[in-house]
Amino acid sequence: MAKDFSTMEDSNRSSNPDIHQVIAASRRRFLQGGAALSLATVLAPLAGCASLGAAQPKLGFKGIPVGMGDKLVVPEGYVATSLAPWGEAVGIPGNMPAFKTDGSNTADEQAVQMGMHHDGLAFFALEGSRRGLLAINHEYTDDGLLHVGGFRNMNLEKVRKSQNAHGLSVIEVELKNQQWQMVRPSRYARRLPMSAPFSVGGPAAGHPLMRTAADPEGRTVLGTLNNCASSKTPWGTYLSGEENFAFYFGGADKPTPDQSRWGARKDGLYAWEKHDARFDLKQNPNEYHRFGWVVELDPMDPTSTPIKRTALGRAAHEGAWVGVTKDGRAVVYSGEDARFEYIYKFVSRDKIAPAGKGLTQAQANKELLDHGTLYVARFDADGRGQWLPLVHGQGPLTAANGFADQGEVVIKARQASDLLGGTKMDRPEWLTIDPDSGWVYCTLTNNSQRGEPGKPGVDAANPRVNNVMGQIIRWKDEGDFDGRRFEWNLMVLAGDPANERAEAKGNINGDIYACPDGIAFDQRGVLWIQTDTHATQMYKGELARVGNNQMLACDPVTGETRRFLTGPTNCEVTGVDLTPDGTTMFISIQHPGETPTDRSDPADPAKFSNWPDYTPGGRPRSSTVAIRKKDGGVIGT
Ligand code: FEO
Ligand code: CA
Ligand code: CA
Ligand code: CA
Repeated sequence: MAKDFSTMEDSNRSSNPDIHQVIAASRRRFLQGGAALSLATVLAPLAGCASLGAAQPKLGFKGIPVGMGDKLVVPEGYVATSLAPWGEAVGIPGNMPAFKTDGSNTADEQAVQMGMHHDGLAFFALEGSRRGLLAINHEYTDDGLLHVGGFRNMNLEKVRKSQNAHGLSVIEVELKNQQWQMVRPSRYARRLPMSAPFSVGGPAAGHPLMRTAADPEGRTVLGTLNNCASSKTPWGTYLSGEENFAFYFGGADKPTPDQSRWGARKDGLYAWEKHDARFDLKQNPNEYHRFGWVVELDPMDPTSTPIKRTALGRAAHEGAWVGVTKDGRAVVYSGEDARFEYIYKFVSRDKIAPAGKGLTQAQANKELLDHGTLYVARFDADGRGQWLPLVHGQGPLTAANGFADQGEVVIKARQASDLLGGTKMDRPEWLTIDPDSGWVYCTLTNNSQRGEPGKPGVDAANPRVNNVMGQIIRWKDEGDFDGRRFEWNLMVLAGDPANERAEAKGNINGDIYACPDGIAFDQRGVLWIQTDTHATQMYKGELARVGNNQMLACDPVTGETRRFLTGPTNCEVTGVDLTPDGTTMFISIQHPGETPTDRSDPADPAKFSNWPDYTPGGRPRSSTVAIRKKDGGVIGT
């Protein structure tokens, strides 16, 4: 099953450097550069990823060229291995059906197999960096590949299979003979598809707008949808964002103003509403309010019920990322990946509790994210910004304006943010917090509608019309993570600096890319950037020169950017986490071979890709990939 995508020979694995030495040396260098970084941001807020200091190089690998063709490429001296592709049994004892490459696995089988379209992931160590759990999001399905006969003649069984290919997976993995593999069966193995109960926490729990015929209490939702990015909390849980949930609902021939504001459709993208009344907005309007939340899962406790954290606001959440204030409270940053939507932060009321009294730290913080204050970001043209509170009764957020209580404020967070004047962004995707400097980085993947007639024009934070390339913005809250004001700048405008077209011209210092999406700091302070040029635009026009979607490493001090990985045809590169010692990086390859319509022709499913198996006539499979250095060293050195 596991494949080696490198043509390089294995070499000496014995010279495994001590990560603590590497990190200590790197931090010293970074802190020297950090002072220069802050100064430069004030003086040159639009300087891009430019030279900000004389630090030692962080990037020790040889960059690779732009990617073409149906293969995954990593630098010399590295090996990448597919692990846990779509359809592999997750390892539930006594229930491990084999994957069938013709799409003939049943809906029930799919419910215990890896879902489709792997996205965010996180590694939870069980035994140092040798054995652990991977929690993985399955964002959506390509029904052309999922079923025999594809998307044609959808029926209830196909809808159930699609629902069962969504959600979250928890798998146990271990490093054996320098190769990562799934541990099956495992007592930790879990699938959380659309039938899995999630409880509701925070101000929308039990709210009238959350109640349905099937759940009159409004406190238990079956399933999670369109889970995109993810992160690990300092207390050991997994956060996952419910992104563009609106696509799953249909029946809105005459949408209410509220439904319209959330993009309600007459016909859902997946035809679920035609076979499952739950997703028909006419029959079950409140079901719509039960998605668009950040969900929290404790992967270490296989009996735990995940929770939808409504205090963090309803949005097309890409994901959520936690910083910690000096006095120990959690601050959760989140954006919504939709054109002209917002960036949020939540500051917890309580401090993060330690483990004790028989509880793990995850269990001790079971209600931490249910109480606190939610804010929306406003980026001002002078390089400063403000967090505007979404608090019922404050400012315009009153009953007279349609907000009966805090529950309604969080359920209608978009409308509340409209009234407060939050900045309408170019599709905020992943965020990451620089552990050394406290700067928060956010990818704004693109927004081709910026500047169109009837749409918002440019502003300082979103400075390009027809923005097909995207940018990375960063900010630093005043005083501490709970600061109400911040300074900000654009780290980089994506796109080739040699581009003739002004709106597509970037200011990248090094290897070029477009449409930044995944982003994460590693333990050494390297900023990893992953890209998601959509299949409808890939290889066309200005985007042709960046090739297949890819992953790059950036030294945020010097701005140097180097290409580390290119993915197979029409895939997206996403999801990133490392083992604690930094010697393994896990990523996701999502939707290899995706067609512009997301509806591949079932007669020839391998027309565009059949990564990673390369089985003649076989279907391409999204998969987790483990990346190692052949000498066992720290990734990126
Ligand atoms: Fe699912 Fe925002 O990419
Ligand atoms: Ca994404
Ligand atoms: Ca995508
Ligand atoms: Ca994306």
